[in-house]
Amino acid sequence: MSDRNYTIDTGAPSTEPERQYYYMKKAKKLVQAASNQAGRTLSFCITTFGCQMNARDSEKLAGILLEIGYQEIEDEQKADFVIFNTCTVRENANQRLYGRLGQINRAKRKNPNMLIGLCGCMMQEDTVVEKLRKSYSFVDLIFGTHNIYKFAELVYHRIKSGQQIIDIWEQSDQIVEDLPSERKFSFKSGVNITFGCNNFCTYCIVPYVRGRERSRNPQDIINEVISLSKDGVIEVMLLGQNVNSYGNDFQNNPTNLEKPICDNFTDLLKEIEKIEGIRRIRFMTSHPKDLSDELVTWMAESKKICKHLHLPIQSGSSRVLHMMNRKYDKETFLTLVHKIRQAVPDISLTTDIIVGFPGETEEDFQETLDVVKKVRFDSAFTFIYSKRTGTPAANLIQTTSEEEIKDRFNRLLDLIHQSSSEDSARDVGSIQEVLVECVNEQHPQLVTGRLSNNKLVHFPGKDSLIGSLQYVRLIEGKGFYYIGEQVC
Ligand code: SAH
Ligand code: SF4
Ligand code: F3S
Repeated sequence: MSDRNYTIDTGAPSTEPERQYYYMKKAKKLVQAASNQAGRTLSFCITTFGCQMNARDSEKLAGILLEIGYQEIEDEQKADFVIFNTCTVRENANQRLYGRLGQINRAKRKNPNMLIGLCGCMMQEDTVVEKLRKSYSFVDLIFGTHNIYKFAELVYHRIKSGQQIIDIWEQSDQIVEDLPSERKFSFKSGVNITFGCNNFCTYCIVPYVRGRERSRNPQDIINEVISLSKDGVIEVMLLGQNVNSYGNDFQNNPTNLEKPICDNFTDLLKEIEKIEGIRRIRFMTSHPKDLSDELVTWMAESKKICKHLHLPIQSGSSRVLHMMNRKYDKETFLTLVHKIRQAVPDISLTTDIIVGFPGETEEDFQETLDVVKKVRFDSAFTFIYSKRTGTPAANLIQTTSEEEIKDRFNRLLDLIHQSSSEDSARDVGSIQEVLVECVNEQHPQLVTGRLSNNKLVHFPGKDSLIGSLQYVRLIEGKGFYYIGEQVC
């Protein structure tokens, strides 16, 4: 679905990213003129819903808006360009967007300069775009996940034409490198390694809205990490829906003609380990079905990979896992956890769990509780199953009442809280390295940082520590965080 008449511009380069830099220049002139007329620099505010992929995409949008002359502000009601980068993984995410749009339209009526842009996963759904087209004509720019790299071009044409632009692509093989990006943190950064997903878990809409899995060329990833490290970044988080399948698409991708310097995730990690200045490496998400022995061995040997693994289980019942198309069962998951804990004994394991998948019985749920008791995850993101139209599970009949599902959900939460607070006591007294992230909002005499295992620590300190690694003694464990003191 696309209104692409705007693309006619004979002077524009046909190659990327040159084309986008051309449009950034042109857009900059228009934004400058509008700023002059308004007597102030026009501003933008991006609100991001959903996962780390969207967070990273928003940094790229921000980089382009800064490049064309907007300034960033936090108050969306006052901004001249408001962007919602949306998520559609669960139904309630959609409902929230419509509420926000109503609010922002009131602000737009008072500010003639205001533009509203919508992008992200929700925009890849035809029904959503139809609804927006019909009932939300005040939205200026709508684009999807596949053409986000064309943002500068789209913004230019929107400002120039004064017309609403809707541009959604069904798919794209292209990965455009070297566009601007504005990082939220100066000392840590997400780095995309794959886009899309090929796993088609039956409940999940991500493969439909993000497309087939595409791995970035390893040399591009390495170049990006080198340039981040030169820019002061010491921690990188490698991002993909299933980082463990990195490189699987190289064999059958005719566009990757030259042989990549590495074609699997473990080798990529080994290359990134060599980059000077990078002190910590994280990655997300690991699908249990593809987590290799080589990776486990390398996690034990590496000096930089953090002691944290996010390993979504989704359900503890082999029957439900089969219905979910997860391609592992309860036993293989437990064996995998055992293997990881043997290799990296101090690793922190976190997970995602869905409660109330259609057909989940009390016995199935007991299996989930059993795995949670056995594994003792450090924390878990728990979700009530949400039906997503177009996914295979949407055709299954829900056999459990809402009340029963809520009851299961609460029982699961109680169990997770219990084991994570019991286990957090185990590290009290130890001295650990902390990457300081910010001044504590409630207690400005404290700073907040992260341990290698991803847990938060608050300790007395000044803002000059932000971005540095400090040794901290953990004094008190509070379940999801610690109180500590700096050890000089
Ligand atoms: N690629 C990641 C997950 C991305 S979505 C992985 O495979 O682990 C993040 C989480 O949202 C999933 O792990 C799952 O627990 C949850 N989720 C996805 N679809 C859902 C749905 N339809 N209902 C409820 N939770 C869902
Ligand atoms: Fe969704 Fe499964 Fe892909 Fe994760 S691996 S994004 S849960 S389909
Ligand atoms: Fe949501 Fe899209 Fe991420 S659906 S979870 S923002 S990939």
